[in-house]
Amino acid sequence: SAEDRSALLAIAVDIAREAGRVAAEGQAGIDVLATKSTPTDVVTEMDRAVEELIRKRVLAQRPDDSVLGEEGAEETGGSGVRWVVDPIDGTVNYLYGREDWAVCIAVEHAGETVAAVVAAPVRGDLYTATLGGGAYCNGERLRVADPVPLEMALVATGFGYSARRRAQQAEVLRTVLPRVRDIRRGGSAAVDLCGVARGRTNAYYERGLNPWDWGAAALIAQEAGARVGGLHGAPPNPDLTIAAPPGLFEELHDLLVGLGADTDGPEEG
Ligand code: IPD
Repeated sequence: SAEDRSALLAIAVDIAREAGRVAAEGQAGIDVLATKSTPTDVVTEMDRAVEELIRKRVLAQRPDDSVLGEEGAEETGGSGVRWVVDPIDGTVNYLYGREDWAVCIAVEHAGETVAAVVAAPVRGDLYTATLGGGAYCNGERLRVADPVPLEMALVATGFGYSARRRAQQAEVLRTVLPRVRDIRRGGSAAVDLCGVARGRTNAYYERGLNPWDWGAAALIAQEAGARVGGLHGAPPNPDLTIAAPPGLFEELHDLLVGLGADTDGPEEG
């Protein structure tokens, strides 16, 4: 019910706020240029610590729920409620002292996301949504930008970590870039999706996302009026995730289908 959704959201907001505070304090202590050991270790450690904090807080209040996190194995409770957690989305931004990273918590009931929080503490942005209840940033209602034709669209995207996938993503971008107003690569899939929700970009697409990357932010974009999905009517998935107002969604979708944006390039060697 709507009441349950708001109750779950309230818990998620409290936990995301605390997690965001801890992560932001951690970020302030990183000096990437001065780090001689592999700097990614610092982020991995913080990722683990923040996820552990979220897991503990969730299970303390709701011991029969399940928690799926980026960093760890799934814990399975019997309540039918599952918390999908990305402790820090946008880890490279985090490492470089940049602003666009976020703590993401999606709450699913019977497999459907019913409440979502994306907390971007350095920006001071707290995005929230409940299924059917709208999307908000710091309490202000969000609406996507009015649909524009693709050639007038500001389009955000992101890239995977493997060279093979990136080669194909560059190939796709070669065709997309001359056909749109411009491209943004923000560095956090969750913040990018919230950007669509807020009308700061017209559309977003990316191959290779995981459920914790899109879970929370997809509901926020949807509740702000975006269509969010994969190719050929599929829900968001690792093959491809697209978000845009209806109309622009289809135009971008058809272009991406034709370009094989849901595939990786040929194997190297
Ligand atoms: C990454 C970011 C990035 C996207 C990558 C993701 P992470 O998440 O969202 O923007 O392009 O595909 O893996 O690794 O920083 O949690």
